[in-house]
This record gives sequence, C-alpha cells and structure tokens, in this order.
Amino acid sequence: MDSVQFLSLTQLANLWSTEPEALRLWDLRTAEAFAACRIAGAQRVTLEALREGLKAERGMDRLHVVIGESPEALASELRGIDPRLVVLRGDLRDWCRQGWVSVRGEQADLSVLKAGRVPEEDQVSSRNRDLILHQLFEHESSTYTYLIGDRRTGEAVLIDPVLETVDRDLKLIDELGLKLLYVLDTHVHADHVTGAGLIRERMQVKTAVSERAEVPCCDLRLSDGQQLQIGSFTLTALATPGHTDACMSFLLKTPDDEFKVFTGDALLIRGTGRTDFQQGSTEKLYASITERLFTLPDDTVVYPGHDYRGQTSSTIGAEKKHNPRVGGGRSLEDFKKIMSELRLAYPKKIHEALPANMKCGLRGDGRVFHPQTVNAIPEITCEDLERALRESRANSVRLIDVRRPDEFTGELGHIQGSRLVTLGPELEQWLASSDRAEEVVFICRSGGRSGQATMMAKEKGFQFAINMQGGMLRWNELKFPSQKTSN
Ligand SMILES: [Fe+2]
Repeated sequence: MDSVQFLSLTQLANLWSTEPEALRLWDLRTAEAFAACRIAGAQRVTLEALREGLKAERGMDRLHVVIGESPEALASELRGIDPRLVVLRGDLRDWCRQGWVSVRGEQADLSVLKAGRVPEEDQVSSRNRDLILHQLFEHESSTYTYLIGDRRTGEAVLIDPVLETVDRDLKLIDELGLKLLYVLDTHVHADHVTGAGLIRERMQVKTAVSERAEVPCCDLRLSDGQQLQIGSFTLTALATPGHTDACMSFLLKTPDDEFKVFTGDALLIRGTGRTDFQQGSTEKLYASITERLFTLPDDTVVYPGHDYRGQTSSTIGAEKKHNPRVGGGRSLEDFKKIMSELRLAYPKKIHEALPANMKCGLRGDGRVFHPQTVNAIPEITCEDLERALRESRANSVRLIDVRRPDEFTGELGHIQGSRLVTLGPELEQWLASSDRAEEVVFICRSGGRSGQATMMAKEKGFQFAINMQGGMLRWNELKFPSQKTSN
C-alpha cells in the first residue's frame, strides 16, 4: 500500500502532548500562512527540502507529519515517497484559534501546549473554547505557574505563582482582561517564594492552600474534594500528600468532561517530588500517585509544578506506563528503594523560602521590585518600572542612569526622576557613598552598561541593585515618556 495516511488535529494533539520527540513536523504552506499560524517545532520547507530532510532522517523511527494547504492534493503528491509520512487533515487555523500551542514573548523557547486531549473528529465544543490556559515558566527554580480562566465570564485563578515573576503574570492577566478570583498554592514550597501574598496586596483576590499546610496568612484553607468554580470550569482540590504532608493537586474539569490535573510536586513528568523533608513520606506519595492520580482517566493531561528537562505536559496514561519511579507497575518497595537512593542536595533557597511562604511569600521588607535574575544579574523590565512609576509605587527607589551626559540629554532622553551618574570613577564614588540597603535601578542605553553597574553595586554590598532590561532604547520603543533636558 503506497497511499499516504492522514492524521487528524486530535491525533496530532495527543501525540504532541505525550511523545513530541517522536514527531517531525514539515510545513509546506506559504510563508504568509506559516507566519499567521504554525505549530511550534514545525519547519517550513519546500517539497524538495522535504525529500532531502527525509533522506537525512533515514533509519530514525519518527513519524513525519506534513502540513499543506490542501491535504487531499498533498497526499496524492506524496504517494510512494516514504512510508513514515502522514498528512495532517483539518484546518490548522483551528489549532491556533484554540491556542493549543503558543509561543509567547519571553517564553519563546518554550512551546506551551495548552490542551492535550481534544474531542473526536476535531469537533471542538464551543464551551471548551472558553478555556484559557497559560503555562508560565520561572527559570531560576524551573517552576511552572498556571493561569486558568474562562473567556466568557473573565474569571480566573493562578496556580503556584513565583514572587519574581508576579509582574509578568499580572500583566498577562491584565492584557487578557481577566478577573483573578484565587491564587492557589499546591503546597508550601521550599525552592521558591510564592507570589500569592504580593498579588493579594496588589488586587482583590483570595489566597488558598491546603488546610493541612497551617499557613496562617491564607484566606481559604482547602479540604480534600473542595470545589472552586471558575466560570463554567470546576477545579477540585485533591489531597495528594507525600512530597509534603499538605500537598494538593487541582483537577480541572471542563463542561465536556475533559480533565487536566495540576499535580504540583506530587507527580512530575517521568518523575515525582522528593520525600526527604517537610514531613515527606514515601508511602503517602506512592499511595497519592497510584491510588489517586492514576485512577483518573488515562487521557487526563498532567501539568506538573516543575520540569527540569523542558517538558511541558504529559498524560496519566503515559505516566502510568513510562514513569520510571511509579509507572510500569512498580511496587511500593521499588519506589522506596529508588527514593532512598536519590541523595538530593537541599534546595538553595530553602532557608529563605520556607519562612517566607508561611507568610504567603511576604517578607515584609517593603521592596517595590522582585527582580528576576538573568545571568546572575537581577533585572526588571521597562514595563515593570513604568507601571510602578505611574502607580507612584517607586518613590523610594533610586533611578541611576549610568550613560554619558550627552546621552542623558540626547535623542533617547532619560526617565524623569533619574539621576545621571556616569559609569566609571563617578559611579564608583557614588557607590562608595550611598546607602546599600536602598533599592537602586540602573539604566543605560541598551542594558549593557547598567548590567555592569548592577554587578558592581552588588559586589559593593548593595542588596537590591537592579538592572533595567533593554535600557532607554527599549523604553523609547515602548513609547514611555522620556525627558531630554537635565533635571
Ligand atoms: Fe516542592
């Protein structure tokens, strides 16, 4: 048989969510169509380049999915070329319209799969179209934060926000026009500080964590089986202790009975949370996974709290089969042996994170910014700074512009309230005589010199030195106000 098989969008979504490495996506459409909507990871090629590509992949056992304007015509054109070829049937625009895979700004390297299972024959129900699901990533602790919302009612929840990425998350919520109802923590984290308390400070929202976590500052203490309604979607708290005694997973059910489970650190993709501190228990974790999570339907999409290998989601079925700690029918004895041999180092931030998280992540130090560390340099975006200035939250923050005087009053101008202290002897003198406990944001043309200044300040003992990403170039690109005359 030399006819080419077809693959539906549904089948592709399932494969994509569980075995992405077994797929190769070739897109034969026009550059315009490709730019308008594409599946992350797909390569745009000509028919010739496809033939060459297939040759190069000889001997590799991958499924080659070809995407074209007209699947039927494409299938006859490709007949007999290679038995590993399948043609995608269905309108790719549906894929993008649903937001199943999106590549967003700073997450550009992460292909974010937003739904694994879709109804048969690509008949996506209109009610499921209302689901908004964003998987957001924090690099330092490799934490996933999830934003779940109902497009129709605008209601939303955030699961496991990280303090350093609160501004990014709130910006997204604002852009999508959502109203945040709850901030949920799957457990008291040891590796990062939660953003829950800071978000509650900024907006009317309830923070929630398991009743067993004994976090006095939270608004809602969740019990096993407790349900939260987010528009037409139901989120059920499932007690899944073991990594910590108070771990909860959150099961999302759509009106069409699709399930997605947010497992925190109980079940990870091809892994599990550790059980060697915070009242961890190997027996409890084994029971939580095998008797609770593994009894969910096999096509339930699993969204973990962390991933260290670039994976974004899995399914209960895939974990039951392939999880090297608890899958493939491994016994409690097997699991205990594996866990006892892990010998993991303690998380770097544990001494800071645990006490802070008992207070919903609020350290009470009055800081305005919670920068994200990029290449050892604490950084904030122009957007974060502009918003803080506009909301008059940054009055206590020193803005130090380290460019030359002619640049300060030149074409790009400077931020109102910033002070010119040129990199070099002038800055060194300033650093030697200024308060090291103050929050200082360094600014330059494009972020290079200010990055250097931030490092110098940190070395001199400044606790809260921050670099403004992208400098005045970016600031002007965003059309934020700048001043050209000296203060
Ligand atoms: Fe954890």
